[in-house]
Amino acid sequence: MTTRAVVRGVGHYLPEKVVPNSWFEDKLDTSDEWIKSRSGIERRHFVAKGETTSQMAAKAASNALEMAGLEPDDIDAIIVATSTADLTFPSAATMVQAQLNMTRGFAFDVQAVCAGFVFALSQANALILSGQARRVIVIGAETFSNILDWTDRGTCVLFGDGAGAVVIEGEEMSGTNADRGILATDLQSDGRHRDILYVNGGVSTQSTGTLQMQGKEVFRHAVEKLAKTAHTSLEKLGLTGDDVDWMVPHQANLRIIKSTAQKMGIDMDRVIVTVQDHGNTSAASIPLALSTGVEQGKIKPGDLVVTEAIGGGLAWGSVIIRW
Ligand code: UT7
Repeated sequence: MTTRAVVRGVGHYLPEKVVPNSWFEDKLDTSDEWIKSRSGIERRHFVAKGETTSQMAAKAASNALEMAGLEPDDIDAIIVATSTADLTFPSAATMVQAQLNMTRGFAFDVQAVCAGFVFALSQANALILSGQARRVIVIGAETFSNILDWTDRGTCVLFGDGAGAVVIEGEEMSGTNADRGILATDLQSDGRHRDILYVNGGVSTQSTGTLQMQGKEVFRHAVEKLAKTAHTSLEKLGLTGDDVDWMVPHQANLRIIKSTAQKMGIDMDRVIVTVQDHGNTSAASIPLALSTGVEQGKIKPGDLVVTEAIGGGLAWGSVIIRW
């Protein structure tokens, strides 16, 4: 027998305000056609003034708890993956804990930018496997609209705001690939590439800063590293792309998603794609896509799901889940 971290519930929250590509056309030298053809993005959601990352995270968590049929005090730990916490400290996770009126357990943030959800899910799995927690809420939540340079057409058209959450719980299983739950993970980072995607502010500069990206360079690393990490996780199980029911990739660029799927031998009809509606929501993109895939009746219990993401650091990784 082996303990597995099994998904009990999933949920998401998107801010009300939807911004189509055309919104940028009279502000910048850009077009709906360029944004769509280069990234696959058609629209994105932006927070209202005063709406914060932890507020969105708490709403996504409430929805995931409802699906799981659990109350906040049934939960042992909250992990929020975010690079845009409300404040420098405390963590967004403790703010979520308070908003859920949760009076027990522990909460902390994980910062691995666009790969944040994969890193957080892997840490939640480790907490469950080591017996430190039985039920964990893992949230990806971001307000990237607060860190965009609205004069840089190469970045500001690409990102959006939102939050997604999953509730996972330890359960004793047989220890085979047929088990439900998290079956394998692979995490990687390489700080030598820290300057191709970063925010040029923070505590040390007494400013928030804005997102700076060498898009082409990040693209090059993404198409090379994402399929590789997904293969590495699958290989740990003796599986290949043929065994995958759903690929749920980080939603940064449709061309990256297509290239990764092709390298893995996965047809696009087995890929959850939300980038057209959400843009790149960084750490929120995978749980948003998982929640959307479940809501659309695509991802079902027993399906083999592969998630993968890459972002600032660079940091990248993958998680294999039997839903
Ligand atoms: O989530 C974290 C990971 N992030 C990513 O995975 C993003 C990875 N990178 C990308 O998705 C793509 O590189 C972009 C979508 C950012 C850009 O696509 P690209 O095909 O690599 O375009 P490019 O940066 O090479 O730019 C091509 C041209 C340039 O003009 P010139 O130099 O050829 O005259 C840009 O100045 O397109 C121009 N351009 C734009 N034109 C209209 C850049 N941004 C825009 C824009 N509208 N918004």
